[in-house]
Amino acid sequence: MTTNVFPESGIEPDKVLADLEALASDDLRADGRAFAFVYDGGKDVAELSRRAFAASMGGNGLDPTAYPSARRLENDLVAAAASHLRAPDSVSGTVTSGGTESVMLSVKAARDYARKTRPEVTTPRMLVPETAHACFHKAAHYFGVELVVVAIDPKTMRADVEDMSGKLDDNTILLVGSAPSYAHGVVDPIEEIAALARERGIPMHVDACIGGWVLPFKRELGAEFPNFDFSVDGVTSISVDLHKYAFAPKGCSVLLHRDRTLRDAQYYACANWSGYCVVNPTMLGSRSLAAMGAAWAVLRGLGRSGYRERFERMMRGTHALVEGVASIDGLRVLGSPDMGLVAVASESGDVFTLADRLTALGWHVQPTYAVGSSPAHVHFTVEPGNADAVPNLVDDLRVAAQDLPAMQAPPQAVVGMLAAVATGAAAIPVGQIMKELGVEDGKLPVEQANIHRLLNAASPEVREQLLVMFLGELFS
Ligand SMILES: Cc1ncc(COP(=O)(O)O)c(C=O)c1O
Repeated sequence: MTTNVFPESGIEPDKVLADLEALASDDLRADGRAFAFVYDGGKDVAELSRRAFAASMGGNGLDPTAYPSARRLENDLVAAAASHLRAPDSVSGTVTSGGTESVMLSVKAARDYARKTRPEVTTPRMLVPETAHACFHKAAHYFGVELVVVAIDPKTMRADVEDMSGKLDDNTILLVGSAPSYAHGVVDPIEEIAALARERGIPMHVDACIGGWVLPFKRELGAEFPNFDFSVDGVTSISVDLHKYAFAPKGCSVLLHRDRTLRDAQYYACANWSGYCVVNPTMLGSRSLAAMGAAWAVLRGLGRSGYRERFERMMRGTHALVEGVASIDGLRVLGSPDMGLVAVASESGDVFTLADRLTALGWHVQPTYAVGSSPAHVHFTVEPGNADAVPNLVDDLRVAAQDLPAMQAPPQAVVGMLAAVATGAAAIPVGQIMKELGVEDGKLPVEQANIHRLLNAASPEVREQLLVMFLGELFS
């Protein structure tokens, strides 16, 4: 179903806006029951953000000389992130559109820095823990850098530094650690990885996209944990998203470099065409200032005390969830989360049925598939807006976990079709697979365990094909 957004005669603004709001009526919302996607600083924060977004949307970050506010907003946000992450005076940074762009640019910077300083490296490689975000794989794909997967300790879910050390070679241009990883919420051994990087003179990126705004407050609140920021010698760049736990609207992340030489390698310039000269710090050309302005306003509006109070609540919710799960027979938390990202696996039951049952009880959670040392699990993102609901969630988890069936095989008809696809023997019968799985007009069925069991049983490569196929269906 589509709406004609380009009618012959224009439509009244009130009617257009009402229609637009109606379009979003089925969207996930910050109602305290969403344990994925939502980072809710509260209604006042959302309202401030909305107004600041509108106030800043006219500018274009493409040219900070024509829009001096672009320079101010960006320098102010970079300075705030740098001080939060204990950067030295030599630090420099960029505001990007999100975690993926920050991470991709950290890889691009390391690649171009190596091109300049180590021209003998013709097949650059980066060492990336199995648990690091998919955007490192995306960066490898886009920028022609080989991604070498580093094992994790299957108990702690933290990167195995010995494995990383063994994989280091003369073509390695970047080492990576997460603070924390999205899936399990655990911080990698950043000091040990940084020591390796320092020893070999290789850049190291800390992906603190999801945790970089939270963890310094956790320390302020009295928790003791190893350093992960620029206080660690050897860490050369850090990404931190403002559109997650800093409660800015989508489209705002900061990438920091310990010094400018690496940041300069991130930039792209082109004066070799017939239009204006291009110099882009990020992947985009024209850049909206809207999310940057909103982030600037939210940081100032909440202040450190506003964040501290919200993260205290989030940490209480996290502990309640971890302790609650430990008290439920048959369920376990993977690793020991350093913040509100909790992966719950089942000892022997089907976690996808568990997810369906939670959905039926009104919760929004994230079923996640087995990869490497990480088994299939249900992922929960605890944040200030849902933290107070955790006791109710735990009650429902206890009910949902009762008599959980063992993981069943996915539907035979679909498995047969996929086997042919995997061997390249057949074209993908998209419509038939969707029908077998109960997907209609791009809408997932209420019970989705069948779909998740299928994807979980498939190899990552076949999963990727299926995901592309599914997304293509949504936009056809
Ligand atoms: C650790 C980490 N890195 C990178 C990303 C990618 O961020 P984005 O979705 O903003 O592109 C995420 C997203 O959850 C993340 O958790």
